[in-house]
Amino acid sequence: MEENKKTLYSAIQPTNSLTIGNYIGTLRNWASYQNDYNCVFAMADMHAITVRQQPAQLRANTLALAALFIACGVDPDKCTFYVQSHVPCHAEMCWALNSLTYVGEMERMTQFKDKSKRHADNINMGLMDYPVLMAADILLYQTDVVPVGLDQRQHLEITRDIAIRFNNAYSPTFTVPEGIYAKVGAKICDLLDPTKKMSKSAENPNGSIFMTDDRDTVIRKFKRAVTDSDNCIKYDPENKPGVSNLLAIYTTFSGKSMDEAEREFDGKGYGDFKLAVGEIVADKLAPVQAEQKRILDDKAYLQGVLANGAEKAYKVARKTLSKVYKKIGFFQA
Ligand code: TYM
Repeated sequence: MEENKKTLYSAIQPTNSLTIGNYIGTLRNWASYQNDYNCVFAMADMHAITVRQQPAQLRANTLALAALFIACGVDPDKCTFYVQSHVPCHAEMCWALNSLTYVGEMERMTQFKDKSKRHADNINMGLMDYPVLMAADILLYQTDVVPVGLDQRQHLEITRDIAIRFNNAYSPTFTVPEGIYAKVGAKICDLLDPTKKMSKSAENPNGSIFMTDDRDTVIRKFKRAVTDSDNCIKYDPENKPGVSNLLAIYTTFSGKSMDEAEREFDGKGYGDFKLAVGEIVADKLAPVQAEQKRILDDKAYLQGVLANGAEKAYKVARKTLSKVYKKIGFFQA
């Protein structure tokens, strides 16, 4: 890692296919961060098992996600790019941080409460400990900035609290990280219920655009997107959540500003607007999907990249973990 650059950390769980919410909220910016930061990008498979996964599917999803990262411009030579479970320090650090985290804090986490409702038959310890494992991920790499969607803000805040708590209890050890959130696109919403975030695990898959959706599916889903009865294409998330969500998607995929997009659709009907959004998304997804498939076909290459990535990550993570073990009083042989 270069000494003069700040460190940026982010991760995505290899569950299902990603949605364009994950892509817009995070992944699409990752390539551009690589020149300015020491980037560490992970596939959070240990987080993924906090809800039930089919083992074969989890394995396949992990490889598919690795290929998607690269297809989106993540360059394994420019950053550290690895699978979380390949670096044992994450579980070890999580255990050390657990003893500095209160049960009450974890019970108050919105995502824990939501997931406990959705998976009422499987409210496991991992689900509750999810934010501490996330803190371990971030703090192991002495991270300065963490680009995530707004749904992760609370987890970022608790990471900062845990870091500060540790630094105060022992002595300065961890960099206290800052979250970075996109101005537009940090919360892409469900097409059928624009008050909810677009999710990989939504009950109705027609509300989410998956990165693997083909052109016809993308256009069909956008045609059915919920709008309102004003017939006016303006960005106003509070009063026009459906139209604003579509505009956020349109501007990120077209590269146009919000003003430009509003002017372009001034006086047009919702039907034309939804078709235009569907077309631009389908146009932009097609080459990414083709590139992902090409990379995925070369398993030996991908395995090599992930083995190297884990080695690079381990060196940095181990150093921080050793410091932590020393500070908390573990006898060093
Ligand atoms: P995951 O896989 O659920 O989400 C990956 C990233 O996508 C963002 N995101 C969205 N952004 C905008 N609109 C949406 N509809 C939307 N849905 C999801 C999420 O905020 C996230 O940034 N817990 C993390 C994974 C993780 C992590 C970390 C992230 C594990 N360790 C350390 C940062 C640092 C998560 O939510 O993954």
